[in-house]
Amino acid sequence: MRRPLVAGNWKMHGTRASVAELINGLRRQVLPADVEVAVFPSCLHIVQVLEGLADRVAEVGAQDCAADPAQGALTGEVAASQLQDAGCTLVLVGHSERRLLLGETDADVVRKFAAAQSCGLIPLLCVGETLEQRESGKTLEVVGAQLASVVDVLGIDVFARAVVAYEPVWAIGSGLTASPEQAQQVHAAIRAQLAAHSAEVACTVRILYGGSVKAANAAELFGMPDIDGGLVGGASLNADEFGAICRAAGS
Ligand code: PGA
Repeated sequence: MRRPLVAGNWKMHGTRASVAELINGLRRQVLPADVEVAVFPSCLHIVQVLEGLADRVAEVGAQDCAADPAQGALTGEVAASQLQDAGCTLVLVGHSERRLLLGETDADVVRKFAAAQSCGLIPLLCVGETLEQRESGKTLEVVGAQLASVVDVLGIDVFARAVVAYEPVWAIGSGLTASPEQAQQVHAAIRAQLAAHSAEVACTVRILYGGSVKAANAAELFGMPDIDGGLVGGASLNADEFGAICRAAGS
């Protein structure tokens, strides 16, 4: 059985005061024991969140890491080894906002994935198609190529220590959620692509759905056979809403 994971991506939001409020809100939530919960604050707030959630209500991850795992002369970047040293356990790689707005390539994403794992962090690999790609029938091709870029370079076994997040770009922050059937179709294709290399890895890897997940639609999405939880943006900034989404992933 795959243990569901609900991950909150806080993106470039928060001040010390609002983060303190969010930590308090999270600590008040009754979270199901059979669900893993993680939050991804901005780098600036990671330590504050780690201290605030020291009794491990949730894991803490970073939203990105440098392509080189070691410390070095690279102004503005944060190394996976520094994230690990701070206490992070996970890191997002290849979020569509970084791919599309900051020009991150598949090759960059592969290096970041490898950097994260070399420091003992679990990479959460984000994949997803744009609206234009979906409308021209290219969804599975695009998502398949993003996934293959990692499998081809690093092999299948790296997915034994990774999570995949399917996030259709048109559903992110738009209020438009993929229907449970639309999401399930892509999740099943991702699992089948991994199964072609290793049935065992495909069976155990968690594949999260992201894109306008909220308390009102979470249970339906998480009820699909290949959806193992969610990557939640906007709704994760509200502790009560995020708590309700976590509970929807429980049995
Ligand atoms: P959203 O963002 O939940 O606000 O749509 C999801 C994400 O980008 O991870």
